[in-house]
Amino acid sequence: MILDKTGFVLNKPFSLPEAMADYLSSLNTPPNPAQEAVRTETSQLPSATMRFNHEAAMMLQLIVRAQRPMFVVEVGTFTGYSSLTLASVLPEGGRMLCCDVSKSWTDVARRHWAAAGVDDRIELRIGPAIHTLRSLPAKPAVDFAIIDADKTGYVDYYEELVPRLSPHGLMGVDNTMWNGQVLDDTDSSEDTAAIRAFNAHVAADPRTINVTVPIGDGVTLIGLAG
Ligand SMILES: C[S@@+](CC[C@H](N)C(=O)[O-])C[C@H]1O[C@@H](n2cnc3c(N)ncnc32)[C@H](O)[C@@H]1O
Repeated sequence: MILDKTGFVLNKPFSLPEAMADYLSSLNTPPNPAQEAVRTETSQLPSATMRFNHEAAMMLQLIVRAQRPMFVVEVGTFTGYSSLTLASVLPEGGRMLCCDVSKSWTDVARRHWAAAGVDDRIELRIGPAIHTLRSLPAKPAVDFAIIDADKTGYVDYYEELVPRLSPHGLMGVDNTMWNGQVLDDTDSSEDTAAIRAFNAHVAADPRTINVTVPIGDGVTLIGLAG
Protein backbone atom coordinates (compact mmCIF):
# COMPACT_ATOMS: atom_id res chain seq x y z
CA MET A 1 0.00 0.00 0.00
CA ILE A 2 1.34 3.47 -0.87
CA LEU A 3 0.41 6.38 1.44
CA ASP A 4 0.84 10.10 0.90
CA LYS A 5 2.30 12.38 3.61
CA THR A 6 -1.05 12.57 5.40
CA GLY A 7 -1.54 8.82 5.46
CA PHE A 8 -4.11 8.90 2.67
CA VAL A 9 -4.09 5.69 0.65
CA LEU A 10 -2.82 6.45 -2.85
CA ASN A 11 -2.68 2.97 -4.24
CA LYS A 12 -4.83 0.26 -2.77
CA PRO A 13 -3.96 -3.27 -3.83
CA PHE A 14 -6.63 -4.48 -6.20
CA SER A 15 -8.78 -7.45 -5.40
CA LEU A 16 -12.36 -8.07 -6.34
CA PRO A 17 -14.26 -10.90 -4.66
CA GLU A 18 -15.76 -13.31 -7.17
CA ALA A 19 -19.31 -12.57 -6.02
CA MET A 20 -18.77 -8.86 -6.66
CA ALA A 21 -17.23 -9.57 -10.07
CA ASP A 22 -20.27 -11.68 -10.98
CA TYR A 23 -22.63 -9.00 -9.68
CA LEU A 24 -20.96 -6.30 -11.80
CA SER A 25 -20.90 -8.57 -14.86
CA SER A 26 -24.61 -9.12 -14.48
CA LEU A 27 -25.16 -5.33 -14.61
CA ASN A 28 -22.68 -4.35 -17.32
CA THR A 29 -23.90 -4.03 -20.90
CA PRO A 30 -23.62 -7.55 -22.35
CA PRO A 31 -22.04 -8.35 -25.73
CA ASN A 32 -24.21 -7.41 -28.69
CA PRO A 33 -24.88 -10.05 -31.39
CA ALA A 34 -21.79 -9.04 -33.43
CA GLN A 35 -19.53 -9.28 -30.38
CA GLU A 36 -21.19 -12.53 -29.33
CA ALA A 37 -20.42 -14.00 -32.76
CA VAL A 38 -16.69 -13.17 -32.37
CA ARG A 39 -16.67 -14.59 -28.84
CA THR A 40 -18.31 -17.82 -29.96
CA GLU A 41 -15.95 -18.41 -32.86
CA THR A 42 -12.86 -17.36 -30.87
CA SER A 43 -13.76 -19.66 -27.99
CA GLN A 44 -13.16 -22.64 -30.31
CA LEU A 45 -9.53 -21.60 -30.94
CA PRO A 46 -6.57 -22.87 -28.93
CA SER A 47 -5.52 -19.24 -28.31
CA ALA A 48 -8.99 -18.18 -27.14
CA THR A 49 -7.65 -16.53 -23.99
CA MET A 50 -5.98 -13.84 -26.10
CA ARG A 51 -9.36 -12.28 -26.84
CA PHE A 52 -9.89 -8.80 -25.43
CA ASN A 53 -11.89 -8.73 -22.21
CA HIS A 54 -15.48 -7.61 -22.84
CA GLU A 55 -15.70 -5.10 -19.99
CA ALA A 56 -12.36 -3.57 -20.99
CA ALA A 57 -13.50 -3.31 -24.60
CA MET A 58 -16.71 -1.59 -23.51
CA MET A 59 -14.77 0.87 -21.35
CA LEU A 60 -12.67 1.81 -24.39
CA GLN A 61 -15.82 1.97 -26.51
CA LEU A 62 -17.38 4.48 -24.10
CA ILE A 63 -14.24 6.63 -24.36
CA VAL A 64 -14.30 6.41 -28.15
CA ARG A 65 -18.01 7.28 -28.25
CA ALA A 66 -17.26 10.46 -26.30
CA GLN A 67 -13.96 11.28 -27.96
CA ARG A 68 -15.15 10.74 -31.55
CA PRO A 69 -11.68 9.94 -32.93
CA MET A 70 -11.07 10.28 -36.66
CA PHE A 71 -8.05 7.94 -36.67
CA VAL A 72 -7.59 4.91 -34.40
CA VAL A 73 -4.58 2.58 -34.44
CA GLU A 74 -4.67 -0.93 -32.98
CA VAL A 75 -1.53 -2.95 -32.36
CA GLY A 76 -2.62 -6.58 -32.00
CA THR A 77 -5.97 -7.45 -33.59
CA PHE A 78 -6.33 -11.25 -33.30
CA THR A 79 -9.93 -12.25 -34.15
CA GLY A 80 -11.21 -8.70 -33.98
CA TYR A 81 -13.05 -8.24 -30.68
CA SER A 82 -11.66 -4.84 -29.68
CA SER A 83 -11.48 -3.53 -33.25
CA LEU A 84 -15.11 -4.47 -33.95
CA THR A 85 -16.17 -2.95 -30.63
CA LEU A 86 -14.46 0.38 -31.41
CA ALA A 87 -15.03 0.56 -35.16
CA SER A 88 -18.78 0.25 -34.64
CA VAL A 89 -18.89 3.60 -32.81
CA LEU A 90 -16.48 5.65 -34.92
CA PRO A 91 -17.89 8.95 -36.15
CA GLU A 92 -18.70 9.48 -39.83
CA GLY A 93 -15.39 9.40 -41.74
CA GLY A 94 -13.48 7.84 -38.84
CA ARG A 95 -10.85 5.24 -39.77
CA MET A 96 -9.11 2.43 -37.92
CA LEU A 97 -5.73 0.91 -38.77
CA CYS A 98 -5.25 -2.61 -37.41
CA CYS A 99 -1.77 -4.19 -37.14
CA ASP A 100 -1.14 -7.90 -36.74
CA VAL A 101 1.30 -10.56 -37.94
CA SER A 102 -1.28 -13.31 -38.28
CA LYS A 103 -3.28 -13.75 -41.47
CA SER A 104 -5.30 -16.68 -40.15
CA TRP A 105 -6.49 -14.95 -36.97
CA THR A 106 -7.25 -11.70 -38.75
CA ASP A 107 -9.15 -13.59 -41.46
CA VAL A 108 -11.62 -14.36 -38.68
CA ALA A 109 -11.66 -10.66 -37.76
CA ARG A 110 -12.25 -9.65 -41.40
CA ARG A 111 -15.29 -11.90 -41.65
CA HIS A 112 -16.82 -10.47 -38.50
CA TRP A 113 -16.05 -6.87 -39.52
CA ALA A 114 -17.85 -7.52 -42.80
CA ALA A 115 -20.83 -9.17 -41.09
CA ALA A 116 -21.10 -6.21 -38.73
CA GLY A 117 -20.81 -3.71 -41.59
CA VAL A 118 -17.69 -1.98 -40.22
CA ASP A 119 -15.12 -3.34 -42.72
CA ASP A 120 -15.38 -0.14 -44.79
CA ARG A 121 -13.62 1.87 -42.08
CA ILE A 122 -10.89 -0.62 -41.12
CA GLU A 123 -7.53 -1.08 -42.83
CA LEU A 124 -5.61 -4.20 -41.81
CA ARG A 125 -1.86 -4.38 -42.26
CA ILE A 126 -0.24 -7.77 -41.85
CA GLY A 127 3.37 -7.62 -40.67
CA PRO A 128 5.38 -6.64 -37.61
CA ALA A 129 3.53 -3.73 -36.04
CA ILE A 130 6.72 -1.78 -35.47
CA HIS A 131 7.22 -1.51 -39.25
CA THR A 132 3.63 -0.38 -39.76
CA LEU A 133 3.86 2.24 -37.01
CA ARG A 134 7.17 3.58 -38.35
CA SER A 135 5.61 3.91 -41.79
CA LEU A 136 2.93 6.28 -40.46
CA PRO A 137 3.42 10.03 -41.01
CA ALA A 138 5.31 11.66 -38.14
CA LYS A 139 2.52 14.21 -37.60
CA PRO A 140 0.26 13.95 -34.53
CA ALA A 141 -2.82 12.44 -36.15
CA VAL A 142 -3.57 9.38 -34.00
CA ASP A 143 -6.60 10.16 -31.85
CA PHE A 144 -6.87 6.81 -30.13
CA ALA A 145 -4.55 3.80 -29.95
CA ILE A 146 -4.69 0.34 -28.42
CA ILE A 147 -1.58 -1.67 -27.66
CA ASP A 148 -2.35 -5.38 -27.21
CA ALA A 149 0.32 -7.42 -29.01
CA ASP A 150 3.68 -9.01 -28.13
CA LYS A 151 4.67 -7.74 -24.70
CA THR A 152 8.36 -7.31 -25.56
CA GLY A 153 7.34 -4.76 -28.18
CA TYR A 154 5.26 -2.55 -25.87
CA VAL A 155 7.90 0.13 -25.16
CA ASP A 156 8.74 0.44 -28.87
CA TYR A 157 5.05 0.71 -29.85
CA TYR A 158 4.53 3.35 -27.17
CA GLU A 159 7.57 5.30 -28.36
CA GLU A 160 6.24 5.31 -31.93
CA LEU A 161 2.73 6.29 -30.84
CA VAL A 162 3.38 9.05 -28.28
CA PRO A 163 4.76 11.57 -30.82
CA ARG A 164 1.92 10.69 -33.19
CA LEU A 165 -0.85 11.25 -30.64
CA SER A 166 -3.07 14.21 -31.45
CA PRO A 167 -3.36 16.85 -28.68
CA HIS A 168 -6.45 15.18 -27.24
CA GLY A 169 -5.28 11.69 -28.16
CA LEU A 170 -5.43 8.70 -25.85
CA MET A 171 -3.86 5.29 -25.67
CA GLY A 172 -5.22 2.16 -23.97
CA VAL A 173 -2.64 -0.51 -23.21
CA ASP A 174 -3.84 -3.99 -22.25
CA ASN A 175 -2.43 -6.57 -19.83
CA THR A 176 -0.52 -4.15 -17.64
CA MET A 177 -1.41 -6.13 -14.48
CA TRP A 178 -0.27 -9.29 -16.27
CA ASN A 179 -2.36 -11.56 -14.13
CA GLY A 180 -0.51 -10.33 -11.04
CA GLN A 181 2.79 -11.76 -12.27
CA VAL A 182 4.34 -8.27 -12.29
CA LEU A 183 4.42 -8.55 -8.48
CA ASP A 184 5.94 -12.03 -8.39
CA ASP A 185 9.66 -11.58 -7.73
CA THR A 186 10.31 -15.18 -8.71
CA ASP A 187 8.88 -14.59 -12.20
CA SER A 188 11.70 -13.47 -14.49
CA SER A 189 10.11 -14.55 -17.77
CA GLU A 190 10.65 -12.31 -20.78
CA ASP A 191 7.02 -11.22 -21.04
CA THR A 192 6.70 -10.42 -17.34
CA ALA A 193 9.95 -8.44 -17.43
CA ALA A 194 8.68 -6.60 -20.51
CA ILE A 195 5.40 -5.59 -18.85
CA ARG A 196 7.26 -4.42 -15.73
CA ALA A 197 9.66 -2.43 -17.90
CA PHE A 198 6.78 -0.93 -19.89
CA ASN A 199 4.87 0.10 -16.75
CA ALA A 200 7.99 1.72 -15.28
CA HIS A 201 8.79 3.42 -18.60
CA VAL A 202 5.34 5.03 -18.78
CA ALA A 203 5.33 6.01 -15.10
CA ALA A 204 8.66 7.84 -15.58
CA ASP A 205 7.70 9.60 -18.83
CA PRO A 206 7.09 13.35 -18.28
CA ARG A 207 5.42 13.63 -21.72
CA THR A 208 2.37 11.66 -20.63
CA ILE A 209 -0.06 11.10 -17.80
CA ASN A 210 -1.52 7.70 -17.07
CA VAL A 211 -3.86 5.70 -14.91
CA THR A 212 -4.22 1.94 -14.84
CA VAL A 213 -7.77 0.71 -14.56
CA PRO A 214 -7.97 -2.73 -12.91
CA ILE A 215 -10.42 -4.09 -15.43
CA GLY A 216 -9.76 -7.35 -17.27
CA ASP A 217 -6.01 -7.86 -17.02
CA GLY A 218 -5.38 -4.15 -16.40
CA VAL A 219 -5.78 -1.41 -18.99
CA THR A 220 -3.47 1.60 -18.74
CA LEU A 221 -4.97 4.78 -20.15
CA ILE A 222 -2.39 7.26 -21.35
CA GLY A 223 -2.74 10.83 -22.57
CA LEU A 224 -0.38 13.71 -23.26
CA ALA A 225 0.65 15.77 -20.25
CA GLY A 226 -0.12 19.48 -20.03
C1 LIG B 1 -3.76 -10.52 -27.29
S1 LIG B 1 -3.92 -10.70 -29.01
C2 LIG B 1 -4.88 -9.28 -29.45
C3 LIG B 1 -6.30 -9.38 -28.99
C4 LIG B 1 -7.24 -8.46 -29.74
N1 LIG B 1 -6.97 -7.05 -29.46
C5 LIG B 1 -8.69 -8.76 -29.49
O1 LIG B 1 -9.50 -7.83 -29.56
O2 LIG B 1 -9.05 -9.91 -29.20
C6 LIG B 1 -2.31 -10.32 -29.60
C7 LIG B 1 -2.17 -10.24 -31.10
O3 LIG B 1 -0.91 -9.64 -31.37
C8 LIG B 1 -0.40 -10.18 -32.55
N2 LIG B 1 1.05 -9.94 -32.61
C9 LIG B 1 2.04 -10.60 -31.96
N3 LIG B 1 3.23 -10.09 -32.28
C10 LIG B 1 3.00 -9.07 -33.14
C11 LIG B 1 3.84 -8.15 -33.83
N4 LIG B 1 5.16 -8.18 -33.69
N5 LIG B 1 3.25 -7.25 -34.64
C12 LIG B 1 1.90 -7.23 -34.81
N6 LIG B 1 1.07 -8.06 -34.17
C13 LIG B 1 1.61 -8.97 -33.35
C14 LIG B 1 -0.79 -11.65 -32.48
O4 LIG B 1 -0.81 -12.23 -33.78
C15 LIG B 1 -2.17 -11.57 -31.83
O5 LIG B 1 -3.19 -11.60 -32.80
